[in-house]
Amino acid sequence: MIPFREIEETATKDVVKDHNINTMQIKSKSPEEILILFKEKNIDENWTFIEYKPSDTGKWTHSYHRYPAKFIPQLVEKLIDEYISSEYAQINDPFMGCGTTIVTAISKGFKASGTDINKIAYLITKVKSTPIEPVYLDRKIKHLLAKLQFLESSQNSLFRTNIEPLIPQKHLERINYWFIEQNKNELGIILKAICDEEDETIRDFFLIAFSHILKNCSIWLQGSTKPTRDLKKISTKPYNMLKRHLKKMQRGNNSFYQIIPQKIKDNLREYLNIKIQDAKKQPVNDNTVDLIISSSPYVTSYEYADLHQLSTLWLDFADNLSEYKKEFIGSAYKYCNDKKLKSNIAQDIVDKMQKKSRKMAKEIETFFIDMQEVFDESYRILKNGGRCCYVIGDTKLKGVGILNAEVFAESLQYSGFIVDRIIKRKIPLKILPQKRDLKTGRFANNHEANSEAYPIEYIVIGLKE
Ligand SMILES: C[S@@+](CC[C@H](N)C(=O)[O-])C[C@H]1O[C@@H](n2cnc3c(N)ncnc32)[C@H](O)[C@@H]1O
Repeated sequence: MIPFREIEETATKDVVKDHNINTMQIKSKSPEEILILFKEKNIDENWTFIEYKPSDTGKWTHSYHRYPAKFIPQLVEKLIDEYISSEYAQINDPFMGCGTTIVTAISKGFKASGTDINKIAYLITKVKSTPIEPVYLDRKIKHLLAKLQFLESSQNSLFRTNIEPLIPQKHLERINYWFIEQNKNELGIILKAICDEEDETIRDFFLIAFSHILKNCSIWLQGSTKPTRDLKKISTKPYNMLKRHLKKMQRGNNSFYQIIPQKIKDNLREYLNIKIQDAKKQPVNDNTVDLIISSSPYVTSYEYADLHQLSTLWLDFADNLSEYKKEFIGSAYKYCNDKKLKSNIAQDIVDKMQKKSRKMAKEIETFFIDMQEVFDESYRILKNGGRCCYVIGDTKLKGVGILNAEVFAESLQYSGFIVDRIIKRKIPLKILPQKRDLKTGRFANNHEANSEAYPIEYIVIGLKE
C-alpha cells in the first residue's frame, strides 16, 4: 500500500471530485481517492449550528442526564429532514448513547430502533423517549418528594425515618470510596423510596434523576470525566439536588409531551424498539430501516463503563466492572478478535502505531475490525436507497494520525455501501470535546492537556443502492 505522504505528493487534484448530494457519484473509491477526498473537503458552515443556545440543544428531554460526546439534536433533525420523506420511516442508531437520535425520531413521529451495550445509556434513552402525561407525573413527583422531605435540612434527619436505606452491599467498598457517609445513607433512602414506586415508567424516570445527581453528590472531581477523587470536594446534598433536577426533568417532559404525535403516545411500544445489546446485532429485520444516524465510540478515548461507574454501582448494573468493560467497542479492555482488517487505510495506521506502541496498535486494529462488522449490520438492516450517517472525528495518538473518518468511508464500501456524501463540520468551541493528554492519549481535563482532540468532525454517509 502507498504510504499517505506519497499519495499526497503524487495525486493530482482532479482525481476525485467533490461529492455533494447532487453531484455524480463515482461508484467505488480506492483508499488513495478517499484520502484525497477528505483532504480537499471544505468545512460546511451549514452544519456548525453555532446559533443554537443551550436551551435549544437541551430542549424537551435532552437535558435529563449528562452524557459524554452526545449529539446536538439539531444535527440529527437536519439529517432526518434531508433524507426522510415518508411518514412511515424507521430510524436506527446502533450506538444510542443518551438517545439523541431515538428521541428526535420519536419527536417527528417515526419508528426508532437501536442498541447500546451500556445499561445506563439504554435506561436514559428509554426514559427520554417516553412522554408521561403531565398531571400524572406531577402527582408522582410530589408524592416522592413529600415522602423524602424530612431529608431537606437537618443533619440528624436520617434517624427520623423508617425507610431502610437501599445500598447495594456487594458494591459497598466502591460506594464508600466515592461517597461520604451522610450522602451514602441519604442516597440509599432515596433509592429505596424510588424502588418502592410501582409504576415502572415513573420508577425509571426517578432512577434517571437519581443517576444524574450521583456525580455531584459524590467526591468525583467536578468537571472531570475521568474517575478521579477530590477529597476536598463539598459534595451536594442529595435530596436538594434531586428536587431541583426532578423539576427540570418535569419541565422537559411537559414540553416533550406537547410535541409528540398522538399516534406515538397511544402506542409507544410499536414505535420504540431499543435494546441493551451489541451494535453488531440490531433488533430489526433485513431491509427495514430508512436511515441510520449514529456516532460510534472512539478507540482509546472514553471508557464508558468507567465514566458511568457511579450509576453502575448504585443501580447494580454489573457484578464485575472489568468483565463489563470488555464488551465496549473502542475500550482498551476489549478482547482482540481473530478477524482480519479489511481497510488499507486502517492497516497503514496500525503499522505506524506498531512502531510506537504494540498495545495501542492492537487496540486500534480491534476497533476498526469491530466497526467493519457494525457497518455490515447497518447494510443488512437498511432498505435499498437507505443511508447510514456516521459522525466521527480524526485524531492523533502518539504522533500517528488516526484517520477514523477515512477508515469509516473505506470500510463502508467493503460492507456494500457507496460513499454518498462527506460533510466536514466545525464543532463550536462551547461544545468542543476535551483535549488529549499527550502522554497517555486519553481524554484529559482542558487545563491538563495541550492537544485538541476533535475540533472538526465528519459525517460519513453511505448509501445502500
Ligand atoms: C459517542 S457515544 C454515542 C452518543 C450518542 N450519539 C448520543 O447522542 O448520546 C458511543 C456509544 O457507544 C456505546 N457502545 C460502546 N460499545 C458498544 C457496543 N459494543 N455495542 C453498542 N454500543 C456500544 C457506548 O456505550 C456509547 O454510549
